[in-house]
Amino acid sequence: MFFGCKSVSLSLGGRLILSNVELMAKRGEIMGLVGPNGAGKTSLFEVLCGRYAPDEGQVILKDEDITRTPFHRRAQMGLGRTYQSPVVPASLTVEETFRAARKSHLPFLSRHDAEWAARMVNLNIHPETPAAALGAFDRRKLLLACLMMREPKVLLMDEPASGLINSEIDELDIILRELVDEYAIGVVLIEHRLELLSAVADACVVLDLGEVIAHGTPAHVFDDPRVNAAYFEGASV
Ligand SMILES: Nc1ncnc2c1ncn2[C@@H]1O[C@H](COP(=O)(O)OP(=O)(O)OP(=O)(O)O)[C@@H](O)[C@H]1O
Ligand SMILES: [Mg+2]
Repeated sequence: MFFGCKSVSLSLGGRLILSNVELMAKRGEIMGLVGPNGAGKTSLFEVLCGRYAPDEGQVILKDEDITRTPFHRRAQMGLGRTYQSPVVPASLTVEETFRAARKSHLPFLSRHDAEWAARMVNLNIHPETPAAALGAFDRRKLLLACLMMREPKVLLMDEPASGLINSEIDELDIILRELVDEYAIGVVLIEHRLELLSAVADACVVLDLGEVIAHGTPAHVFDDPRVNAAYFEGASV
C-alpha cells in the first residue's frame, strides 16, 4: 500500500469517533474524503499524521507500518499536511515565510527556492508582502508552496476549498492536478461538499458518524443511497 490506514478505531473523551476505518491513497491520485460535519474527517487526519494514536488499526506509508512513528518523523518521511484554517506566520513576509520553510530541511536546505515554490502554486505576490495581509486563497497557496519545498510523497489537505470562491476552487483544482501529475504525489483531500469533489478526485471515501459508508469513484458514491441519506436526511440508513 502506498499510503493509507486499515481497521482504524479512535475514541476521544470516552466517545467512539472512528470505527474500523480503511482508506488507501495511490501515487499520482487524489483521494477525496467526504462526509457531513462531525463525521470524523479531521480526526482521521490526526491519526494519519500522527497527532492521535488510534486504539486499533494501522497507518501505512510505502508498505511500512508507521502507526507508532512520531508526527515529526512522518513529516520527514514525506507526509505533508494542511489545516482547515490557513494560518500563516503573523510577523513574517511572504519571502521570510519561504525562507523559514526552506530551512525546515536543516541541516540541509531545501533545494527549492522561493521563486520555484511560488511558481509551483501560481502565487503572484510581492515577496515583501506580510503573510498576514494575504487573502484566503493566497494564504492557502503560500502554505502549499512551503510544503512542496519538502518534496512530499503524500499530502493531507483539510478542506482546502474552504473560504474560496468558485473561480479560485477551479484554479486550485488545476494546481493540485498539476502537482500530483508532475511529482506523483498521493493526495487525500477533505471536502464536505460532495459536488466539489467530482471535479478533482479520482476516487473517494465517505465517512458518516465515524464509519466508512461508501467508497469508489465520485459518480459511484453520489448515487449511493446511504450517502444520500447521510447528507440529506442527516442520518445513516
Ligand atoms: N478532542 C476531541 N475530544 C472529544 N471529541 C472530539 C474531539 N475532536 C473531535 N471530537 C468529536 O469527534 C467528532 C468528529 O469530529 P471531526 O472534527 O473529526 O469531524 P469532521 O468530519 O472533520 O467535521 P467538519 O466537517 O465539521 O470539519 C465530532 O463529534 C467532534 O465533536
Ligand atoms: Mg474537519
